[in-house]
Amino acid sequence: MADTTIDSNNLDGDPEVSVEVQNLWKVFGPDPQQVMDDPVLRMADKKEVLRKTGGVVALRDVSFSVNKGEFFVLMGLSGSGKSTLIRCVIRLAEPTSGSVLIHGEDICKYDEVQLANMRRHTTGMVFQHFGLLPHRSVIENVAYGLKVRGVEKEERYEKARVYIDKVGLKGWEDRLPSALSGGMQQRVGIARALTGDPSILLLDEPFSGLDPLIRRQMQDELIELQDELQKTLLFVTHDLHEALKVGDRIAIMRDGEIIQIGTGEDVITNPSDAYVRQFVQDASPAKVLTARTVMEQPSVLLYSWQGPKAALQILRDANVDSAFVVTRNARFLGLVTVDRVVSLIRKRGTYLRDALEPDLQTCGPDTVIEDLVPLVASTRYPVAVVDEDGRFVGEVYVSTIIANMIQEQVPEDAQTETVEADEVAPDEDDSSEHSEDSPSDGGLPKGDVRP
Ligand SMILES: Nc1ncnc2c1ncn2[C@@H]1O[C@H](COP(=O)(O)OP(=O)(O)O)[C@@H](O)[C@H]1O
Ligand SMILES: [Mg+2]
Repeated sequence: MADTTIDSNNLDGDPEVSVEVQNLWKVFGPDPQQVMDDPVLRMADKKEVLRKTGGVVALRDVSFSVNKGEFFVLMGLSGSGKSTLIRCVIRLAEPTSGSVLIHGEDICKYDEVQLANMRRHTTGMVFQHFGLLPHRSVIENVAYGLKVRGVEKEERYEKARVYIDKVGLKGWEDRLPSALSGGMQQRVGIARALTGDPSILLLDEPFSGLDPLIRRQMQDELIELQDELQKTLLFVTHDLHEALKVGDRIAIMRDGEIIQIGTGEDVITNPSDAYVRQFVQDASPAKVLTARTVMEQPSVLLYSWQGPKAALQILRDANVDSAFVVTRNARFLGLVTVDRVVSLIRKRGTYLRDALEPDLQTCGPDTVIEDLVPLVASTRYPVAVVDEDGRFVGEVYVSTIIANMIQEQVPEDAQTETVEADEVAPDEDDSSEHSEDSPSDGGLPKGDVRP
């Protein structure tokens, strides 16, 4: 199974861990404890629990941890427990059992004052339906949290302006939310959440209500913002492509449980079970597989300190026309061809660096195939994969890419279990809001899950 073991070895207070959720349960209904105390009921099917007790097990023994600066995505169908989970993390919903550690502190033990402090200083929340105050201007909305904290007007407006700027709303400070488009209103929501300078940002389907084009743009902007601000992000979505685009890691939820945690690539290439496989099967490999996955190691590698005659000998012995050249510590230098080495020898040159082929393409290990294709198509040579530190890590050929794409399309083996129809059944109601008394455990329309 893929990465389902959930960092249980993270010690309390590990400075790298920002949020740690341990064995979290949330039962809605008249008598949550009745469900918790009954070992059979605890693990029973949702419908059975509802029938027997009138309660809903919204979270069942959920554990995971989010590292500092990580973009962590919770993904699952409507009703799978995403909102409940993200709300439990800051106790907007009270966990029935289990613990939530924020920067190593168990916030389930906090009193009201500590809790309010934490929400003001450490965490910020962005909601799907923006949740703006309709009769207050953009800047008043953004500065509102600081006002509650008792910050003077001048100072809070100054701070608010910084974030209004960052989300691209300069000039809109004095307008009312109703004058703004949905995308702009959500920018206000993001600026408001950032203004208190929280280290952890929780976003519950922030872009789900927006048009696809605006949505993509907002995703790009959030990624940029994250690069700049380096918050810890806990981001909820029911959209796989959104999850794959923004997430460092993705946790897939079903019926209140996390059934897989991993990078987008892990989840796509190594789904933990038939449910996840079904979920991800339409994800285009070109958008997901990266150079790191498809690259190969060259049969020959030349070193900058080798002379041209030695290099020629090596190329001929290996029966290849060209090879990459690296310097010490595998730093990437370039590529030489047999022809260029021969002409270097004729000119009595001594350094391979004087024979490098100018027409060369390189890419990073995380370049997705979609972006690799134009690169490999534009050069006669393999594309060099070079990491952030300038080290050569592998090479990509057109043929490798094609082979990988074809392999991805071969259907899974015949004995693949099929997912029960009702597990991914479309549901008429895809709203993620619930009235307090109307539990529903349906799914989203398929098209919504796999756009
Ligand atoms: N306040 C509530 N009272 C009773 N049941 C609830 C309440 N909130 C959520 N639920 C139920 O808990 C489950 C998980 O809901 P939710 O966390 O909103 O899922 P998601 O955000 O993934 O769509 C659903 O079955 C939902 O009906
Ligand atoms: Mg929800």
